[in-house]
Amino acid sequence: MGAASLLLCLSVALPLLLGADECQVIRVLTEASSTKQPFAFNCTSPLLTSGKARVTWYRRLSKVPVSTDSQARIHQEQSWLVFLPVAWGDSGTYRCIVNDTDMCRQVHVNLTVFEKYECGMSRNSQMNFPDGHEQILHVGKNDSLTCHLNFPKSCVLDSVKWYKLVRQFTAGKGRAPLERGSYACEASLTHAGRQFTVSRRIAVNVTENVGYEGRIPKITYPINNTIEAQLGSTLTVNCTITDSRDNTNLRCWRVGSTWVDVYYQESKRVQEGNETHVAFKEHAVYTVGITFLEVKMEDYGHPFTCHAGVSAAYFMLKPPAPDGRAYLIGGLLAITGAAALVLCVSSRFRIDIVLWYRSAFHSAGTIADGKLYDAYVLYPKPPRDCRSSDVDTLVLRALPEVLERQCGYKLFIFGRDEFPGQESQHIKQSWRDDV
Ligand SMILES: *[C@@H]1O[C@H](CO)[C@@H](O)[C@H](O)[C@H]1NC(C)=O
Ligand SMILES: *[C@@H]1O[C@H](CO)[C@@H](O)[C@H](O)[C@H]1NC(C)=O
Ligand SMILES: *[C@@H]1O[C@H](CO)[C@@H](O)[C@H](O)[C@H]1NC(C)=O
Ligand SMILES: *[C@@H]1O[C@H](CO)[C@@H](O)[C@H](O)[C@H]1NC(C)=O
Ligand SMILES: *[C@@H]1O[C@H](CO)[C@@H](O)[C@H](O)[C@H]1NC(C)=O
Ligand SMILES: *[C@@H]1O[C@H](CO)[C@@H](O)[C@H](O)[C@H]1NC(C)=O
Ligand SMILES: *[C@@H]1O[C@H](CO)[C@@H](O)[C@H](O)[C@H]1NC(C)=O
Ligand SMILES: *[C@@H]1O[C@H](CO)[C@@H](O)[C@H](O)[C@H]1NC(C)=O
Repeated sequence: MGAASLLLCLSVALPLLLGADECQVIRVLTEASSTKQPFAFNCTSPLLTSGKARVTWYRRLSKVPVSTDSQARIHQEQSWLVFLPVAWGDSGTYRCIVNDTDMCRQVHVNLTVFEKYECGMSRNSQMNFPDGHEQILHVGKNDSLTCHLNFPKSCVLDSVKWYKLVRQFTAGKGRAPLERGSYACEASLTHAGRQFTVSRRIAVNVTENVGYEGRIPKITYPINNTIEAQLGSTLTVNCTITDSRDNTNLRCWRVGSTWVDVYYQESKRVQEGNETHVAFKEHAVYTVGITFLEVKMEDYGHPFTCHAGVSAAYFMLKPPAPDGRAYLIGGLLAITGAAALVLCVSSRFRIDIVLWYRSAFHSAGTIADGKLYDAYVLYPKPPRDCRSSDVDTLVLRALPEVLERQCGYKLFIFGRDEFPGQESQHIKQSWRDDV
């Protein structure tokens, strides 16, 4: 393993524009492997979760699918593309076509095959380490390195060994104690009766910072909340995810268990946006938007879920609540208006109301305001011994006849209703109006 083996460094431009087929390219990934190494790639796509999707691997623009014969050096196994092992000429683009019910998507993998140098690698340099991984470990924490061995279940992996530079370090279940530098893990892989050796390199950096430790992606938004949206409006909601930098988690928006782009494949009314990310030292913050070109009634109360690896969080839409202040002001205006109307009516028709009340309840006595009479009739009183004048006739006969009998008023008529010494009291307490 010490000598430089034969190597390749190839790259083939992706036929992004040449892909004259109808399948939309949804992801372009870059992978690297050393020659003579077993290598496998899983066509992971949110589409695969539907279960109905058929995955077919093609090499470059070939129309002939990759063989499914498990004895073939390059073959397809379920959604995996397996190289047992990688050879010089394998560099290039591989297309994984996901053919779902009337929907077709493709993932492109840009594979670069490198020459493998066992010695003389500069430390911690990913450039000289194309097929390696980098892992950051924290001082004072229990941590372990992971040997990145991703193969389909048909590949049996065992006896993982760890090396530091040249020396053998420890054996264990794919994990090893830590020390800064370059490590390699090696495992034996058995597939269909044939045995291979897989090795992976890991650049280890050690930090004293207690950085992002979570291996589970954290969705900071949405938070299973409800968002107000006007019917017919355009709306974009971002899903914000914090995850480790080297994660391989898929991030997407789903309706139920269906990817939004598939759910709305006809109308394209709701679409997933492009993923953006901001990388920090040990973690990255990803943003994936979901855009409603037009909010419709059917969107209300329906959960739209953002998925990031094993994590999920949703939001729901609801129609905007009517403006609370408008209600308050309207209510106050209505109450004020009603009060003003009541005041106006009661002052204008005070007498009529009293009369109506009296006729309605046959109340002959005092009513609420304690007054006995409706009006006090003042007239010039002739001397006691004189004969009744025309005034007396008017006041004592005509007025009571019309006002009291016909109209229902109660009059206090001086000279008819007073008792000696009671005038002033009556005058004070009794009338509502003068006549
Ligand atoms: C494929 O990978 C090679 C080497 O990493 C790179 O030069 C090339 O630009 C990549 N092609 C695309 C389309 O990403
Ligand atoms: C790899 O592909 C299989 C189907 O062959 C799928 O069930 C599995 O979830 C995939 N693995 C990952 C890590 O996505
Ligand atoms: C997808 O599958 C349908 C039948 O299931 C087939 O007619 C069509 O050609 C396939 N498309 C691709 C690109 O493989
Ligand atoms: C390792 O960590 C040191 C200090 O934390 C940093 O300066 C250096 O760039 C890191 N190396 C790599 C390869 O990340
Ligand atoms: C590390 O693991 C040991 C035992 O495995 C335990 O006693 C110790 O508390 C752990 N330390 C930390 C920081 O988790
Ligand atoms: C969503 O995220 C993108 C990219 O980070 C940003 O440009 C955009 O303003 C965000 N939109 C909303 C509605 O927050
Ligand atoms: C996503 O990116 C593609 C090109 O990379 C661009 O054509 C498309 O408009 C972008 N979509 C959004 C929603 O920004
Ligand atoms: C939101 O709901 C998902 C299930 O859809 C659940 O897994 C998650 O823990 C919830 N998150 C919060 C913050 O309640």
